Amino acid sequence: MNFFIMTLFPDMVESVLSESILGRAGEKGLIHTEAVNIRDYSKDKHKKVDDYPYGGGAGMVMQAQPIYDCFTSIRDRINGSYKCIYLTPQGQCFSQPLAKSLSREENLILLCGHYEGVDERVLEEIVDMEVSIGDFVLTGGELPAMVMVDAISRLVPGVLHNEDSAFTESFENGLLEYPQYSRPEVWKDKTVPSILLSGDHAKVDAWRMEQSLLRTKMRRPDLLDEKSEENT
Ligand code: ADE
Repeated sequence: MNFFIMTLFPDMVESVLSESILGRAGEKGLIHTEAVNIRDYSKDKHKKVDDYPYGGGAGMVMQAQPIYDCFTSIRDRINGSYKCIYLTPQGQCFSQPLAKSLSREENLILLCGHYEGVDERVLEEIVDMEVSIGDFVLTGGELPAMVMVDAISRLVPGVLHNEDSAFTESFENGLLEYPQYSRPEVWKDKTVPSILLSGDHAKVDAWRMEQSLLRTKMRRPDLLDEKSEENT
């Protein structure tokens, strides 16, 4: 799966995506991530990419031309299907189901905005979907783009060592994850729940399911409402 990130800060994106699990997935050829510098496509002699907003107001607006040319340079070397996504607080909220459905795409082109926004005309021309990572405003779309690449990549077969872990954890079954314990058996006078030491897998599974339900009820009852709506 290929991710093309259109950004004014390619170093920021590359430094994150070349590390850890995503870095290894890149080396293994399971994913390909590429930060493409929008500024390289500016036709301005000073490589300017923004200008004042028509109608006045604070801040600068990213201009259409460099973004459009950056996009077409990527699109023209992609074979297969793609989706172009603009990261913005105005978009649809990112979620595990959306990550799952996007992990089936061959190519994702992610547009990171900056300043006060992006000229609406280029958004109309190239963007298939607008996505927000939550109801707060960040200084740019780079961190949201990296959040998306991370959440989607780990669903690509082979990226995680233990294939099970992508499916047993929080949100995959619409519930929060049960508590986990590792050695030692006693730490600061706290003991591991005895059922986990019993070796009885059926009992362990039942306990974990009960804990997941309890946690979800206490911390995120809205998820249980969503689940029951799905089943009606
Ligand atoms: N750009 C700035 N804030 C954002 C957010 N919350 N989600 C996606 N893109 C953004």
